[in-house]
Amino acid sequence: MRSKLPHHGTTIFTVMSKMAQEFDAINLSQGFPDFDCPPRLRELVAQHLNDRKNQYPPMAGIAPLREAIAEKVSRLYGFEADPETEITVTSGATEALFDAIQASVGAGDEVIVFDPAYDSYDPAIRLAGATPVHIALTVPDYEIDFDALSAAITPRTRMIVINSPHNPCGSVLSRKDLDALAALIRSYDILVLSDEVYEHMVFDNQAHSSVLSHEELRNKSFAVFSFGKTYHATGWKLAYCVAPAALTAEFRKVHQFVTFTSVSFVQYAIADFMRECPQHADELPAFYQAKRDTFNRLITDSRFRFTPSAGTYFQLVDYSAISEVDDVTFVNELTQKHGVAAIPVSAFYESKPATRVIRFCFCKDDTTLEAAAKILCTL
Ligand SMILES: Cc1ncc(COP(=O)(O)O)c(C=O)c1O
Repeated sequence: MRSKLPHHGTTIFTVMSKMAQEFDAINLSQGFPDFDCPPRLRELVAQHLNDRKNQYPPMAGIAPLREAIAEKVSRLYGFEADPETEITVTSGATEALFDAIQASVGAGDEVIVFDPAYDSYDPAIRLAGATPVHIALTVPDYEIDFDALSAAITPRTRMIVINSPHNPCGSVLSRKDLDALAALIRSYDILVLSDEVYEHMVFDNQAHSSVLSHEELRNKSFAVFSFGKTYHATGWKLAYCVAPAALTAEFRKVHQFVTFTSVSFVQYAIADFMRECPQHADELPAFYQAKRDTFNRLITDSRFRFTPSAGTYFQLVDYSAISEVDDVTFVNELTQKHGVAAIPVSAFYESKPATRVIRFCFCKDDTTLEAAAKILCTL
């Protein structure tokens, strides 16, 4: 059979988690917590399951959840999104990203993505029949090079994908960056797909700059968020997209034929929890900043070099003082010989450059981080 994605294998996250399991390694590769979601949220999930919320919810998501999302967006980003026409609940941010791309681009269109890039963007663009155009973020700060972006825009450019806070780099876009992006695309017919799944993980007293708080950009953007990240429950695969009504109408045409709708009882539980415990999200930056600081302190005497992440629950480290092998070989050895799994950063580049940089995930219990760091400090 002819492959529609001939250059894509199994995602690196699956590969490394499987290797971690096989070699009984501490898994700092794939981004998922090894601690529990809030107990009250678990109670609410059980309650709504026992209430037999078992049948298809509405295609766009249950109304109470869309209303709770609208309240949150208003509180945090000062934007009054209409839950009827501008908010859609999806089965994970992965689905929302896929739907937004399928709804917007096709053969002959170009979509700009910044490398290193989360690995679902490129295949989703290709499956839509469009062409991904990869531009590198600057090194070592992993910022957008606006001159390179400007040079990459052609009459075929239909969409630009941004991701802040950024996986895998941990860099964040500022309001100034959003202003520069808005100015650059002002005279073009270009949409923005803004992946903001780590919105609540921004550190050192910075605020998250959402496209939703940027009037010009939000009128041409799909903004994507994930409950999996916010509630330490990546396996529930529940997320949402906020976009202007005209974009949402097209988005929903795709969503209804990809999954149609998303898990019922979890939607009810999260709607209740968002109303009961809005402080959960407010407390996340400090919670994850403490995890980042713990992990970085534990590896400070190692030979890994790093700049503390500005956001997300990932920390990039340079291992060139330890080894000269390429990053894929390095993480394989790290996992198989030393018992700590990580992600090679070259996996996030189309060009697969010779980086000496790997990504650790620090959304783990302190005991896990301590055990991993003890090993990392011996290298
Ligand atoms: C940048 C980014 N976007 C999207 C996703 C997918 O989120 P979800 O698990 O809600 O599909 C992830 C998950 O790791 C991610 O890191």
